[in-house]
Amino acid sequence: MDVYEAMRERHSVRRYKQDPVPADVVKALQDGIGECNKESGLNFQLVLNEPRAFGGMMARYGKFSGVSDYIALVGRKGELLDELCGYYGERLVLKAQMLGLNSCWVGLTYKKVPSAFSVGRGEKLAAVIALGYGVDNGVAHKSRPMDELMSVKGPAPEWFLRGMEAAMLAPTAMNQQKFRISYEDGRVKAVAGRGFYTKMDLGIVKYHFEVGSRDSSWTWA
Ligand SMILES: Cc1cc2nc3c(=O)[nH]c(=O)nc-3n(C[C@H](O)[C@H](O)[C@H](O)COP(=O)(O)O)c2cc1C
Repeated sequence: MDVYEAMRERHSVRRYKQDPVPADVVKALQDGIGECNKESGLNFQLVLNEPRAFGGMMARYGKFSGVSDYIALVGRKGELLDELCGYYGERLVLKAQMLGLNSCWVGLTYKKVPSAFSVGRGEKLAAVIALGYGVDNGVAHKSRPMDELMSVKGPAPEWFLRGMEAAMLAPTAMNQQKFRISYEDGRVKAVAGRGFYTKMDLGIVKYHFEVGSRDSSWTWA
């Protein structure tokens, strides 16, 4: 599976089988996490065999079951933390999908188990990503129409529209899709709307757009 297929086939999965993640897949995830941390300065950590985060009331409320593995999205507190977590977290979500795993972004419906990961001075846990072998593969979310998610002056190039299609596949909190990507005179800009987790969503959406555009001739304005 390539990354484009991974974007199309990824859906949130909340119910997992008890099958353990094999050592080679764990190693590939750890390598991916290491690369993300190195590039970004984040402190993401893979937590394995820890059923308590998804064992309580919050998780039941969120309809989670069988989750014992997750990525703790830890990083330095600050303006950029949520967007960075979104961007690098989604890179790992798609990597997990390519490794045959299912996943779900979780901002709220879990319990923080501080002994399971480390949070350095000045850092915080922003969210987690549940991982594992799903009971099923989830279902595609409903998307707002592309027109509502973009604003374009003049004709937009093919790569911009490819990027938009990928952005529409991106997971967002409560499927809110509160983002807008604009194109004007070769300038591409993405902005987050108001609300919970919209900055994290923005990072996720920007990663999808970049990968989906299949073009490296542009940068974010
Ligand atoms: C930043 C973020 C936080 C989320 N938090 C939760 C959560 O606390 N509980 C939950 O069940 N789903 C959570 N989700 C999953 C979204 O509900 C899901 O991604 C969205 O409905 C789109 O569906 P899809 O992931 O299947 O495309 C979160 C997603 C994102 C991106």
